Amino acid sequence: MNSSVIKSSNGEHNLANYESSASEFDWSQVEKQFSWYNTGKVNIAYEAIDRHAESGNKDKIALYYSDAKRDEKYSYQEMKEASDKAGRVLQDIGVSKGDRVFIFMPRSPELYFALLGTLKLGAIAGPLFEAFMEGAVKDRLEDSGAKVLVTTPELVGRVPVDELPELQKLVLVGENIEEDEQKVDFLTRFQQASPSLDIEWVDREDGMILHYTSGSTGKPKGVLHVHNAMIQHYQTAKWVLDLKDEDVYWCTADPGWVTGTSYGIFAPWLAGVTNVIRGGRFSPDDWYQTLERYKVTVWYSAPTAFRMLMGAGDELLKKYDLSSLRHVLSVGEPLNPEVIRWGMDAMNHRIHDTWWMTETGAMLICNYPSMDIKPGSMGKPIPGVEAAIVDDEGKVLPPNSMGNLAIKKGWPSMMKTIWNRPEKFNSYFLGGDWYVSGDSAYMDEEGYFWFQGRIDDVIMTAGERVGPFEIESKLLEHPAVAEAGVIGKPDEVRGEIIKAFISLRDGYEENEELQEEIRSFVKKELAGHAAPREIEFRDSLPKTRSGKIMRRVLKAWELDLPTGDLSTMEK
Ligand code: WT7
Repeated sequence: MNSSVIKSSNGEHNLANYESSASEFDWSQVEKQFSWYNTGKVNIAYEAIDRHAESGNKDKIALYYSDAKRDEKYSYQEMKEASDKAGRVLQDIGVSKGDRVFIFMPRSPELYFALLGTLKLGAIAGPLFEAFMEGAVKDRLEDSGAKVLVTTPELVGRVPVDELPELQKLVLVGENIEEDEQKVDFLTRFQQASPSLDIEWVDREDGMILHYTSGSTGKPKGVLHVHNAMIQHYQTAKWVLDLKDEDVYWCTADPGWVTGTSYGIFAPWLAGVTNVIRGGRFSPDDWYQTLERYKVTVWYSAPTAFRMLMGAGDELLKKYDLSSLRHVLSVGEPLNPEVIRWGMDAMNHRIHDTWWMTETGAMLICNYPSMDIKPGSMGKPIPGVEAAIVDDEGKVLPPNSMGNLAIKKGWPSMMKTIWNRPEKFNSYFLGGDWYVSGDSAYMDEEGYFWFQGRIDDVIMTAGERVGPFEIESKLLEHPAVAEAGVIGKPDEVRGEIIKAFISLRDGYEENEELQEEIRSFVKKELAGHAAPREIEFRDSLPKTRSGKIMRRVLKAWELDLPTGDLSTMEK
């Protein structure tokens, strides 16, 4: 195993002083980094933006934003003013502490202004990925009881306002908006707003952001994070992203997913570096250009993206000057050793894998710059985090045993609760103290963790977490579908793709047209990335006696594996 270790050559990393102290790190040390340590006034948006604007850094670039149409930059001072103005617009329409303000739009500077403005008012921001369709939007707005939605004229058609009694205002970001009782013209009001706002000071444990994510059963759950998460955002920015004052940092994730907020907003701005945001879709040319143009030094992306870049060929890569790059990281799905090798060969960079989840709020198990990398391993827990492999009773297992990847309670960015469903929150814990991730893994003798798979049926496709239940429920709404079971099927580029097994109602014929129709039904109602790429019709699906579709058996069918214990299957 050791022959494949990639040695660290970085002697000057931010973690140098901590390495040996491991899980004994005392998080309260980090509090001194924030202004509230002295003032007692807490707000993550203040710490991320205003604090820098009030220091010698006010003219430093906080944000380089670009997409196919826009090309802009904002200093910390300008970000402070813009987020104050956005806060004013929201305050004027009645947003106050604890309200849920959802933001459903493609990346743009306004998205970031609105999100920061929401936080400055002490309200809870709920970012929604722009690809969501009506059904997905409705579930999330309904469950959260959102009072305000910030969106665009292009997307507002997907918001079933009549079915959402708690939704009071639609803030539209676009040109020529006509206001009415519900509709609010963001841009006009923003231009007229005063660039100063009285920040709402909050408690460290007050709600800050609500990310909906999928499990194997039930509707998507609202994972609530609190302002206190800033402690870990900040510290992992130092230790794992290795951010230093002069860095230009690019996290490729959309803020609709937790990576795009914890590490696309909070970590870089808490650390006071220059943050790059590139809107629009993935394209290899565009991404290399972005790295070159902004002289990105630290780059955080995902295995699917690296695999697609790898697929685009090294000739393309060689056309760009990526000499500014210093540190490259990955998250979201297993990082294949082959991709790490490509990183070494093509870019001369080690790609550092990091492991964490929506629920954990920030990185927990990582490869940091000073560590030797074992390709295929997610790395080791960061200082202050205790990870272990436990059995189903919560007993810690010895090295090299497969089991549940679990984390000892007590890291600062842990979710506060599952919105509306405290019982769901409790179900994450075993034996009181262990947070159980739902991943299976093992730990080797040197303390490196190796991901093996999800224990539940959650699908990771192109780095996005999709719950089979949400798709199955949607499939059942199609008139032709009698039963549906959804699994992740291994795929070289996307990690997994979504495959649906379907039995049809009487009178429907199995054919490609119907497959296509069912696929676009899910696309239209949920989201493009949730639509099954493959559909297979079967006369009936394997079920337990209680009627639950046995996805495990579907997976075994798909992979030509033994179907295992079928004793609970209905005969
Ligand atoms: C699940 C969490 C928070 C980052 C984005 C995903 C999988 C995450 C890794 C990794 C293998 C990984 C796990 C985890 N995952 N990072 N480095 N290696 N798998 O957040 O949508 O909440 O998904 O993503 O299965 O449980 P998420």
